[in-house]
Amino acid sequence: MTNTASAGMRETAATGAVTTENRGGVLIVTLDQPGDAVNKVDRSLGDALERVFQEADRDRTVYAVVIASGKPDIFIAGADIEQFLDFRTELDAENASRFGQRLLNLLERSRVPVVAAIHGACLGGGLELALACQYRICSDHPKTVLALPEVQLGLIPGMGGTQRLPRLIGVRNALDMILTGKNIRAKKALQMGLVDEMVHPAILMEVATQRALELADRSLKPKRSATQGLAGMALDGNPLGRAVVYRKAREGVVEKTHGHYPAPLAAIDVVKYGLSHGLEKGLQEESRVFGQMARTPESQQLIFLFFATTSLKKDMGVAEPAPIPKDVEKIAVLGAGFMGAGITAVAVQQGTLVRLKDTDLARVGKGLAAVREVLKERLERKQITRQQFDDMLALAGGAIQYTGFGNVDLAIEAVFEDLGVKHGVLQVVEQLIPGDAVIASNTSTIPIARIAQGLQRRDRVLGMHFFSPVHKMPLLEVIVTPQTAKDATVTAVAYGRKLGKTVIVVNDGPGFYTTRILAAYMNEAGRMLDEGVAIDALDAALVDFGFPVGPMTLMDEVGLDVGGKVGAVMAEAFGARMMPGEGVRRVVESGRTGRKGRSGFYLYDDTGKKGGVDPTVYELIHGGDRRAMPAGSLGPVIGIEKHEIVDRCVLAMVNEAARCLDEGVLRSARDGDIGAVFGLGFPPFRGGPFRYADAVGLEEILSQLDTLDGRFPERFKPASLIVEMARARQRFYPAEGRPVR
Ligand code: NAI
Repeated sequence: MTNTASAGMRETAATGAVTTENRGGVLIVTLDQPGDAVNKVDRSLGDALERVFQEADRDRTVYAVVIASGKPDIFIAGADIEQFLDFRTELDAENASRFGQRLLNLLERSRVPVVAAIHGACLGGGLELALACQYRICSDHPKTVLALPEVQLGLIPGMGGTQRLPRLIGVRNALDMILTGKNIRAKKALQMGLVDEMVHPAILMEVATQRALELADRSLKPKRSATQGLAGMALDGNPLGRAVVYRKAREGVVEKTHGHYPAPLAAIDVVKYGLSHGLEKGLQEESRVFGQMARTPESQQLIFLFFATTSLKKDMGVAEPAPIPKDVEKIAVLGAGFMGAGITAVAVQQGTLVRLKDTDLARVGKGLAAVREVLKERLERKQITRQQFDDMLALAGGAIQYTGFGNVDLAIEAVFEDLGVKHGVLQVVEQLIPGDAVIASNTSTIPIARIAQGLQRRDRVLGMHFFSPVHKMPLLEVIVTPQTAKDATVTAVAYGRKLGKTVIVVNDGPGFYTTRILAAYMNEAGRMLDEGVAIDALDAALVDFGFPVGPMTLMDEVGLDVGGKVGAVMAEAFGARMMPGEGVRRVVESGRTGRKGRSGFYLYDDTGKKGGVDPTVYELIHGGDRRAMPAGSLGPVIGIEKHEIVDRCVLAMVNEAARCLDEGVLRSARDGDIGAVFGLGFPPFRGGPFRYADAVGLEEILSQLDTLDGRFPERFKPASLIVEMARARQRFYPAEGRPVR
């Protein structure tokens, strides 16, 4: 080690990502990977740590070790997921896990006590490292969160997490963390025994060093109670109780995932195995299963989505060189309805000053009340403080006149879905806002060029298509026309990202991308209704495929009036291919609006809670023709198998997505997959319509489309891109390796 500071007392050495300093017998190990904003567990960090631990074991001047991070608000962000792409076999992944486990075993069995001083995100492999330490102290900072998020990538923890966590905090709490991947904040971590102590960040290192010395001279013995509380004792502390915990966990997973995700179930088995066979065998099992999971199709799709999202964060949606986005500090939102209020609620949370305008005070008041509700929920969940709540609410100002528009950076229109109304509003707005402000429409169907046509500053106009509910849905679809200025696009993209959204940029057209492929899918469901398929059979089939809700429930949620308008615009633009079903048209015309009106395809109680299918709706759908109706609302499908329901709806969507790519509405298959998964709930474990098509095989997709085209002329004519690619035996993504950059 090189001697730098005051002789003998302080020695520092750097081994790549790791710096060490001997502070009076306590070796401070600082993790700080060069050239990266975060620390990630990878081979080089592992090698560096291994050398440090071996050295610390030999060096008799070291009595204890403290591991900390040199990054501002990150302890360790988790494993370097890039390395997962190099796993070609289960054994590759298993070996990587064994390597990590060996390292942490070395740490756990170290001659001297090791303390983890955690400030910032301590995730995945980072938490597993902390778990192998004898003592954990964390800062009480909001950025300090602990989690094992591996299941979100279709994996299980692979560096001892499935073994050490239940031994530390009990099976129930451990499974809760492992099966959800959720973040645990500092205070909760302390309560559940995940950390031993919580202190202010300013004294974290001082206290950690002190505790390290106390552990070394045995004046401190960490308290351990893996079975927190009485209920915990009863359930976690004996095999019978644990059997209940495992069974409940399994039931919970199956209910939530419909059995589509193997990793959570595998994690339960590995935890169980380890607790009955001992740590050593448990670790072996963990590695074996980690290897298995790393090669599942589900994990590969989830890892693809992770990289696609990461690569989108760097994509400004315009050809390079991209201009610098303008800072958006104040916005105007036109229309205080459902969407306008939702947009306002997410904007004020990012410190944006919002002018929310509607036509009368009652509507403005209703909009502001809706904003308040969103913020209140965050307050109740302790995600924000009372002070933050007040500050955020104060940023939203209602208006019925166009006052305060003179200094906005962006105006977002969310008035009725009517071109005339939109023109009326935006023509006034463009006169009032600064010349370089961006003019955005939240329309879900109307081509942006048609909106721009009525305006003078067409280069400032684009679409910012948010999804409902705005505060929950992760996608923003930015729509540009050939006239949209690059700086307007990058400003909208950057602002969308600031609001926490994953942003795709698409080219203009009726329904853009998301609404267009959704319409193809919904219409096909509508056609099957006409053919006599039961409403709940349709929904069940697509939920079984992996959508969060089926198409008929979705139509009730979106609103039948809204869906009806969208359907009409799409039919007008694309003709027979996008013609909605007759039955749906009749239901829309009857005035049913879905859940908001407590009357749709399903029954709703006064609170809006969904019941069973409303049997009377079949009369409407079939125009009173009883012969066409399904036998009972739960009745079997008339002449149509479940797989046909899925194939017809999903292939209609895939085919339309391919057209969007071919026509240049989409800039890449990646954007199409992200848009479908994050905007429409396309099953994440299937990766999106393009990844799904690759998995099924384009030749097979083409052959199925040809068959359907024969049966239903006009609707399933294969997109020319699919025909060409299938003939040339191409795929949308490479078969292996890094799919997106
Ligand atoms: P909404 O009916 O809840 O709200 C529209 C609001 O605009 C009403 O409060 C109305 O009073 C107001 N308004 C009408 N004329 C106005 C004017 N001249 N000046 C100011 N305000 C005016 O409708 P919603 O659902 O919020 O939709 C708004 C827009 O967002 C539509 O273009 C819709 O297509 C689009 N959209 C809707 C989604 C949804 O799920 N509801 C999803 C994505 C986009």
